[in-house]
Amino acid sequence: MMQNMTITEFLAQHLQGEHSAALTAMLSDIAHAVKQIAVVIDAGAIAGNMGSLATESVQGVNVHGEVQKTLDVLTNDIFVEAIQKSGYVAGMVSEEVVDPIKSMVKNGQYLLCFDPLDGSSNVNVNISVGTIFSVLKAPNSQPELADFLQAGTEQICGGYALYGTSTMLVFTTGDGVNGFTLDKKTNTFLLTHPQMQIPQNTTEFAINMSNYRFWQEPVQRYVDECLQGTEGERDKDFNMRWVASMVAEVHRILVRGGIFMYPSDAKARMGKLRLMYEANPMSFIVEQAGGGSSTGLQRVLEVSPTGIHQRVPIMLGSKNEIDRIASYHQKKSKRK
Ligand code: AHG
Ligand code: MN
Ligand code: MN
Repeated sequence: MMQNMTITEFLAQHLQGEHSAALTAMLSDIAHAVKQIAVVIDAGAIAGNMGSLATESVQGVNVHGEVQKTLDVLTNDIFVEAIQKSGYVAGMVSEEVVDPIKSMVKNGQYLLCFDPLDGSSNVNVNISVGTIFSVLKAPNSQPELADFLQAGTEQICGGYALYGTSTMLVFTTGDGVNGFTLDKKTNTFLLTHPQMQIPQNTTEFAINMSNYRFWQEPVQRYVDECLQGTEGERDKDFNMRWVASMVAEVHRILVRGGIFMYPSDAKARMGKLRLMYEANPMSFIVEQAGGGSSTGLQRVLEVSPTGIHQRVPIMLGSKNEIDRIASYHQKKSKRK
């Protein structure tokens, strides 16, 4: 039987170009962080790694006014410490911290934006969660907030870890998307999903349907047509999924196609998801796997950031469906 390549072998053989040494080191640090996070998530209630810190600590509410789970804080701390190890990171932005985090590294050349625990509302009900990260070049070794405000097209790496039925690490450095599964016997990531590709067509969509009445007309139209199935415009039946963990949804889409939407709506004008550490890295991955990612009106990767925690409407996945939804938005904006 052929042995799966380890992540260390993969990085040594496949990364090329000016960032290869730095990316090899940083991705090794990230893989190390992910292994540690997988352990604390696995321990769950046994280690008391659940619930809210709201009454125990000033850290109990994050910058979005959301109550942090114990694991939000723990995973943030694990990530921050691990990714500085190899000495490349000049500064960090985390979903869980208001301001950019200063690095201990002297001459760091890269910026890391991350969501240490995505889908954290799923922790207490034992449903898959994840970690999302994005790597940018640092304009200088002591970055200010403005240095982080780079469009997604500037990313040199985007990735996620999925703590699901198995723990996986999936990333792109701009040369396709590769997925690694953690072999818990040897504590090693093995290449199990080389060159992942999203099918262009799909009959599966993911959206929080409870927001239907708040959506704009193009999103309502798209979903209405899916629901009409063989009796409507699309002339085929659709299936729906909603895990409420973006990482799990994007992973499903990478494996079998589909689309995921968190659009703007009358309640949340800019949608819910954060540009710098959710939408951008996921869009980079999805485009690298042959899919599309749009706000409805423009490519997510081309949005000019104005804040490190800003939100953005997002629809991503199978290319032909994303093009269709974008065309519905464009028709609407032309009519205006
Ligand atoms: P986080 O736990 O980092 O705040 O992100 C959760 C996000 C995303 O993972 C998921 O797709 C979405 O929130 C779910 O939102 P609803 O609860 O509105 O369905
Ligand atoms: Mn998140
Ligand atoms: Mn989070």
